[in-house]
Amino acid sequence: MTSHIGGVAEQFHFYPQVYLELVLAEVPAYVELQDTIALATGVGREAVLELGVGTGETTRRVLARHPDASLIGIDESEGMVAAAATVVPEADLRVGRLEDPLPAGPFDLVVAALAVHHLDGPGKADLFARVRAVLAVGGRFVMGDVVVPDDPADAITPLDREIDSPSTIDEQLEWLSAAGLAASVVWRHRDLVVIAADG
Ligand SMILES: C[S@@+](CC[C@H](N)C(=O)[O-])C[C@H]1O[C@@H](n2cnc3c(N)ncnc32)[C@H](O)[C@@H]1O
Repeated sequence: MTSHIGGVAEQFHFYPQVYLELVLAEVPAYVELQDTIALATGVGREAVLELGVGTGETTRRVLARHPDASLIGIDESEGMVAAAATVVPEADLRVGRLEDPLPAGPFDLVVAALAVHHLDGPGKADLFARVRAVLAVGGRFVMGDVVVPDDPADAITPLDREIDSPSTIDEQLEWLSAAGLAASVVWRHRDLVVIAADG
């Protein structure tokens, strides 16, 4: 996902101050995606890990639904983490990469919105196995993201092949299953999906 500022393709996460405006323009169903992710997290989660917090749009929705939860969030962008910290000061936000060891669990919820598509296929499969390893028994992984749609006409989200590596829904269900998670699609719209995967 990119936007063009000053004629140069830049990643959203370089510009936390304009992220929401840009993502709303490029992902028209962004709010529905976020609300669906939050709903799919279920009820009563207490220990939450979020992957790719961005400016905290997902974080604040998840914490509104699970007000007693403690949430650790990671993002590789210092700027995004700083922006999110102003939105969800109660969260434990850390600069970190999805490719690196995840914070020690167990978590009863792991959530990721528009972040996993930055990993290539093997990277996603590896992440799903590591998510499974930090999930508590009965825990859930909720992932909302841009995918390669069945119908090419549904590929409406602007992508930069250097930083975006979406996969198909079926590929991701296969990798989640291989990781030992029972995954199902809870929502899909054009090239967006929300998947819930239980440990
Ligand atoms: C499109 S934003 C999504 C942010 C937020 N979850 C949302 O839905 O609005 C993607 C975020 O993932 C982060 N990100 C991208 N690749 C990453 C990686 N390999 N490790 C950690 N964070 C990454 C970016 O810094 C950015 O904040």
